[in-house]
Amino acid sequence: MAADEGIKQLVSTLPTKPDCNSTTNLLYQYQGFWYHQYYLEHLIAAQTHFTPEPNTTILCSYPKTGTTWLKALSFAITTRTHYTPSQSPLLSRFPHDCVPFFELAPSAARNKSLVATHIPCTSLPAAAAASGCKLAYICRDPKDVVVSLWQFLRKQKKEEDDAEDADMGIEEAFEQFCEGNSFAGPYWDHVLGYWRACLEFPERVLFVRYEELKRETERCVKALADFLGCGFSLEEEKQGIVQGIIDLCSIESLKGLDVTKDSMPYTIHNSSFYRKGEVGDWRNFLTEEMGARLDNIMADRFAGSGLGL
Ligand code: A3P
Repeated sequence: MAADEGIKQLVSTLPTKPDCNSTTNLLYQYQGFWYHQYYLEHLIAAQTHFTPEPNTTILCSYPKTGTTWLKALSFAITTRTHYTPSQSPLLSRFPHDCVPFFELAPSAARNKSLVATHIPCTSLPAAAAASGCKLAYICRDPKDVVVSLWQFLRKQKKEEDDAEDADMGIEEAFEQFCEGNSFAGPYWDHVLGYWRACLEFPERVLFVRYEELKRETERCVKALADFLGCGFSLEEEKQGIVQGIIDLCSIESLKGLDVTKDSMPYTIHNSSFYRKGEVGDWRNFLTEEMGARLDNIMADRFAGSGLGL
């Protein structure tokens, strides 16, 4: 969908910053967050045009926090009465196709009960709040997010430019993230927006942590199913349905599928969404001092919110 002239005009008036993650893109500041032009034009259009059904659940996230995993799990949970794990559409369709981002793929998202977004809570389309739809938010240790984001963007950039010299250093990416100028950042404000919504509407907003999902997968998957309105019965548990879904959605299983070898539009390879999937990989790329600095920034921003990392 091409952005209309009014949106392009609005975007051209916004504050900008160069994006060290790419040589061609600027970041534009809109409602307190930074975006690339292409994404922002879609976000603004979605603010007017997106109308969820009352039974819609929106899977919300900052990029690289586990969006693809949350999509796969939620899709497998909500479709389990239609397909056994061995028949699941997830075996032939990428999670981003099964659960489309409503701002990037508005036609695909229409009438779906499960959609996704990277839009911060405070910029969600007014219709989302008015409809009373549910929001499931996944967040992750920012140290792992910054490394995952850097790995993802440099891979994408190499594929686009085929140029090693366009590579950005982790120090630069880290600095940008700490300053709050990375895509959809500041990360802390993204997290805090959904955290506050969760405190205000606990029955409508689920807050999931990537690290908990890794550590206590079964408990978290059951809680996610309850939230999605289709909790597992004892019978299903005995039949191993929960474990079947966990296995189907594991990074090892999804990574090996043929569909993972395909490309999304705009040259992003599906395989880029599955890297290591580990907690604490930041230690291989950031120094202890860098880690402590980011922890301090988060502690400072989260002070008084009741949220810890
Ligand atoms: P790493 O780069 O640290 O490996 P997103 O889906 O929001 O783009 O996040 C991508 C991150 O989630 C990547 O982290 C990726 O490897 C990890 N990931 C993707 N699918 C996963 C899965 N099924 N289980 C665990 N982690 C997964």
